[in-house]
Amino acid sequence: AMIGKGEHRHFMHKEIYEQPQVIGDTLNTMFNPVSRTFSLPDLPFALSGIDRVTIIACGTSYYAGMVAKYWIEQLARVSVEVDIASEFRYRAPAMPKGGLALFISQSGETADTLAALRYCQAQGQHIISLVNVPESTMARESEVALQTVAGPEIGVASTKAFTTQLTALACLSLVLARARGAIDHATEERLSKVLIEVPARVAEVLAHDERLREIAEDIMDARDVLYLGRGTSYPIALEGALKLKEISYIHAEGYAAGEMKHGPIALIDETVPVIVIAPSDELYDKTASNVQEVVARGGRVIFLSDEKGVARLGARAVSLVLPNVDPFVAPILYAIPVQLLAYHVAVAKGTDVDQPRNLAKSVTVE
Ligand code: G6P
Repeated sequence: AMIGKGEHRHFMHKEIYEQPQVIGDTLNTMFNPVSRTFSLPDLPFALSGIDRVTIIACGTSYYAGMVAKYWIEQLARVSVEVDIASEFRYRAPAMPKGGLALFISQSGETADTLAALRYCQAQGQHIISLVNVPESTMARESEVALQTVAGPEIGVASTKAFTTQLTALACLSLVLARARGAIDHATEERLSKVLIEVPARVAEVLAHDERLREIAEDIMDARDVLYLGRGTSYPIALEGALKLKEISYIHAEGYAAGEMKHGPIALIDETVPVIVIAPSDELYDKTASNVQEVVARGGRVIFLSDEKGVARLGARAVSLVLPNVDPFVAPILYAIPVQLLAYHVAVAKGTDVDQPRNLAKSVTVE
């Protein structure tokens, strides 16, 4: 059937607005209402025996994998390697048999990711894919195919596929943590409840659309934009920079906030907007002190945090107050304002938002 844009000017905007619904749909595929926790379909191998995880993907899907690395390491206490498919496949790494290899792909067809999957198969890894297209090649070639229920994504810049990937990966992290006995039942129940509430929180974030359009006006004339974050906010900074590059053609870089002093701080002046992803979590104070360093050098800070975080900043910054959430789900929520920001900058610049130049929705050749 033909998919329309409805009341939206672009598919990207429509897809951003679908996120409360499709995140909920994705959660529902794994939620068990009786135990009030998450489970996976029956697996042909035991998750309890997994002591090494390798995550491979490209583009936005790779950043979802980066967030999953933090989650799985912290919750399941298992070591995780994450790499982009085009590097991984030619590195030809040694992989002890019996590890878990996880492939993340909206399309399930990306050539490099598929080649990496086949390599891992040959290395005797257990293969799980997380795809948005259930009949895709990756789904067919995996032992287990998990699905994001984002529905067709038309905009070339990925939005709802990303947040549903994060959602499914959060569930997977909890399941892996339980299988390995690394999480107690009370914590698992609490974090499961926090996840179930994400669609409602995402809907609240969407209410900042107009404010983000105003902030975008301040960014549209910049030549370079810097995105900073720590912990799970670091991949969100990378994703924010990628979104901006893809559709507005402004040069943007995502950086780990703590690494700023090793280079990017040299770029800071009043012409470079610095977008900071800083939910109130255990790393908040460190990120806030990086903001002070930026402000001291005349940098223009756009600070994305919650009520407490914005109140505590005490520095000159344009801020956006997002809902208060458990740090576990913050990356899912903070993905939304960076999508909307990129969207509004692109619209203000008059680019072809849904079909940016030189980019393809799915890269099936190398
Ligand atoms: C292309 C798309 C990106 C996507 C990447 C990986 O570059 O433009 O939006 O993140 O491919 O695609 P996949 O389908 O494997 O997630």
